Amino acid sequence: MATSQNINKKYPKNIGIIMDGNGRWALKNALNISQGHKKGVSVVKNIVEESVKQGIQSLTLYAFSSENWKRPKAEINAIKSLVIEAINEQVPELKEKKVKLKFFGHISDFGKKIQDKISFAENETFSKDSKLDLNVALGYGGQQDILDMVIKVSKQVSQGKIKLEDLNEESINEFLSVPVNEIDLLIRTGGDKRISNFLLYQIAYAEIMFIDKFWPDFTQEDFAQCIDNFKNVSRRFGKRI
Ligand code: FPP
Repeated sequence: MATSQNINKKYPKNIGIIMDGNGRWALKNALNISQGHKKGVSVVKNIVEESVKQGIQSLTLYAFSSENWKRPKAEINAIKSLVIEAINEQVPELKEKKVKLKFFGHISDFGKKIQDKISFAENETFSKDSKLDLNVALGYGGQQDILDMVIKVSKQVSQGKIKLEDLNEESINEFLSVPVNEIDLLIRTGGDKRISNFLLYQIAYAEIMFIDKFWPDFTQEDFAQCIDNFKNVSRRFGKRI
């Protein structure tokens, strides 16, 4: 639930990104799709750097949706390998920069190897005073997450562990898998103007920016421009101010 404290806060604390356009970028450059995703990971590195520089509290990235399982097996395997490769290569630097990694979604669908790697990355980068929380959605779908929440809550209510009266817009966050409750700024690259089942509950009051560039072409300057544009927006949260 948006609280009065958020009104007119100029800096976006929590940013979400739908990193779209890797496939089209690869086609445009006569490369294969996996090379598009690989280039996409290098852009993630730049955007994480810029987020630390700008003092952003959390960055939440859509790496693999629950619908992405419908893609060709070779592409799914390439993304899995890239996640492992990115963890192997980036964890020492993330740790040094105090970037806390957290993965969320139906991670168990990715198998033990990835699950173990993710646990390692999360443990290695855990910090109580992190500079940036980097949340990565893997096997995540917003509708699925809300359904999972309803099932968990129903079970707890029927077992008498929680009361219906305890449920409110804040308290149900505990039952959602997303590590951040409220997104201030949502960016989607790739030119399409849709949400694609990302963070449905958390974007209730987010500013949404659609960028007409493929993710591999998205630069630190583009990202800084989005943050600057956000600062000029008046956020009223339904109030007259
Ligand atoms: C969208 O482009 C991108 C994806 C579905 C995958 C993004 C994954 C990564 C960048 C790698 C993993 C990330 C981390 C943080 C380790 P698309 O293929 O849908 O592009 P298109 O719309 O042009 O086909």
